[in-house]
Amino acid sequence: MTTSYIPGFGNHIATEAVPGALPIGRNSPQRPAYGLYAEQLSGTAFTAPRHENRRSWLYRLRPTAEHPPYEPYEAAVRFAAGSHDAPLPPNRLRWDPAPMTPPGTDWIDGMTTMLVNRDPADLEGVAVNVYACNRNMERVFVDADGELVFLPQSGRLTILTELGRIDIAPGQIALVPRGVRFRVELPDGEAAGYVAENHGSLFRLPDLGPIGANGLGNPRDFETPVAWFEDRDEPTQVVQKFLGSLWTMTLDHSPLDVVAWHGNLAPWRYDLSRFNTINTVSFDHPDPSIFTLLTSPSDVPGRANADLVLFPPRWMVAEDTFRPPWFHRNVMSEAMGLITGAYDAKAEGFRPGGLSLHNLMAGHGPDLASWQGASHAALNPHRIEGTMAFMVESCWPYRPTAHALAHAQLDYDAVWKDFPKAKLP
Ligand SMILES: [Fe+2]
Repeated sequence: MTTSYIPGFGNHIATEAVPGALPIGRNSPQRPAYGLYAEQLSGTAFTAPRHENRRSWLYRLRPTAEHPPYEPYEAAVRFAAGSHDAPLPPNRLRWDPAPMTPPGTDWIDGMTTMLVNRDPADLEGVAVNVYACNRNMERVFVDADGELVFLPQSGRLTILTELGRIDIAPGQIALVPRGVRFRVELPDGEAAGYVAENHGSLFRLPDLGPIGANGLGNPRDFETPVAWFEDRDEPTQVVQKFLGSLWTMTLDHSPLDVVAWHGNLAPWRYDLSRFNTINTVSFDHPDPSIFTLLTSPSDVPGRANADLVLFPPRWMVAEDTFRPPWFHRNVMSEAMGLITGAYDAKAEGFRPGGLSLHNLMAGHGPDLASWQGASHAALNPHRIEGTMAFMVESCWPYRPTAHALAHAQLDYDAVWKDFPKAKLP
């Protein structure tokens, strides 16, 4: 089956999988067509300002309200692994790619929470998860704790959501809004990658300021799937993440039964190669915020709850400039992943599928080999090819989970060892 998509970011969309299913002129008619149930899904408070207000109306075979009580989900040990209360050393941390999980592991059980900040109940903060799985989900997942950004590193994903089907491959990303139920299938039989879980305000495109009306992520490159549903009356397990824990119940039908919907809260996909990268054409670096694809603002202007930042293939032309990322310390906290290739500030040890953490005020920057190379390189125009790194930068310091702390590389600090001392005249 091929999926149709509608271009645009946060646009009001109307789509129906069965002709006549979508009411015209009202959201909740007394008797929707075909006996469908009208249900509103709110992504912002009812009273959010109009330009921020996000909601969709769903017309479905059965109401979401019809379900038995949730019970604790006992199987998963690494997703929503809880917080770790021990004092956290201010060390830089890095992780190798996670090994493939045992055969028969679906996306839910293949998820590992690595970094998290704030409590989901705060409606602030972000978590960085990795997944490795090799079995199609036969159940359905829903995250009450936040919207999910899928960043595949290997293997395609088919994400069947209440609002439509999304197909993505490495190099593409997808977002599933908070509260939208979905199932993940694996066209290649196995898959691995990252999932950013945003507990805070919805990801949006950043303001462009002096850049002007165009550039970075362009709205028309975000693609929302058309309505799709399955009419399946058989037992379907639903797993929900709620306030940092997993819960489960079983329905007698598939909840992916939305026949038509309209609104501006919807999943989407985006091809990272469409990111219009902007950078210096004279000297020095703009701050890496110039690479922001999406931002989730906090209540403090200019201080993001979470920014999703890309480091894509691009030309490097700066004159008299140390071209890789510079040495720095940041009041924001930086989690980085690598989808493909190499990252220009690290010679080795940061592999695709790996992860690094440079928390609040941690001194970091190029490793010794990268610093030596870039300090002596001829500054010809040079194109960085075949790479895609990303950062989830947050104003809230990250706390690695107990699993993450137990699996970090032991020698990461050594990449900044033995820098020669500057020589004064
Ligand atoms: Fe940094």
